Amino acid sequence: MKRAIAFDIYGTLIDPMALGQALERMVGDKAPQFNAIWRDKQLEYSFRKAVMKQFNHFTECTQQALEYCDMLLKTRLSSDQKSELLEMYRKLPAYDETEPCLANLKKEDVEIIAFSNGKGDDLTSLFKHAGIFNYFNQIISVDEVGTFKPSPEVYELLVKKSTSIKDNTWLVSGNAFDIIGASTIGLKTIWLKRNPDMVFDPFGIPYTLTVGSLMEIAENNF
Ligand code: LAC
Repeated sequence: MKRAIAFDIYGTLIDPMALGQALERMVGDKAPQFNAIWRDKQLEYSFRKAVMKQFNHFTECTQQALEYCDMLLKTRLSSDQKSELLEMYRKLPAYDETEPCLANLKKEDVEIIAFSNGKGDDLTSLFKHAGIFNYFNQIISVDEVGTFKPSPEVYELLVKKSTSIKDNTWLVSGNAFDIIGASTIGLKTIWLKRNPDMVFDPFGIPYTLTVGSLMEIAENNF
């Protein structure tokens, strides 16, 4: 049975921190802090909404986290600026190694899956903008189960939709919480440790493999 490789999107194939320059234009030297808190809050909101069983799309988490940052850092963004940032978020760029990795894998007999908290039409917008839409055999959004990573239902959805068996379905993610969620239900996992300073949460739940770059996955030697 051919292998299925599911890729997380924000932080794995698409760079969620790429709005630094636009933020600098809008909030000056608060931009790095704004960028980091925005992403952390976005994820925190998704975790909290999953626990509270109050699902709304990931787009709302992104928008509400933006409002939070603006209030916290007293940056007083106009509604036009917020709309501009949210529109740019739908067109975030891919990392440099994303397209070559997917192009190499496409030559192999593997199923390539996009697997994300992101809303279906946001994912389509990102992939079309980054020129990677055609590489995916399937795009799976958590929308289908109405909760967020790392809820087990989300990883069970991946198992259900993968055309491979569970033992041959892999998740590649740069987000440790995502890897831990997938490992918990018995999926094979590859933690993308793109930056040597990244820390893997010490929950005692291991990943299967770790790589420093997507290109190591493209070589498909695991
Ligand atoms: C995603 C989040 C985890 O793409 O970044 O699912």
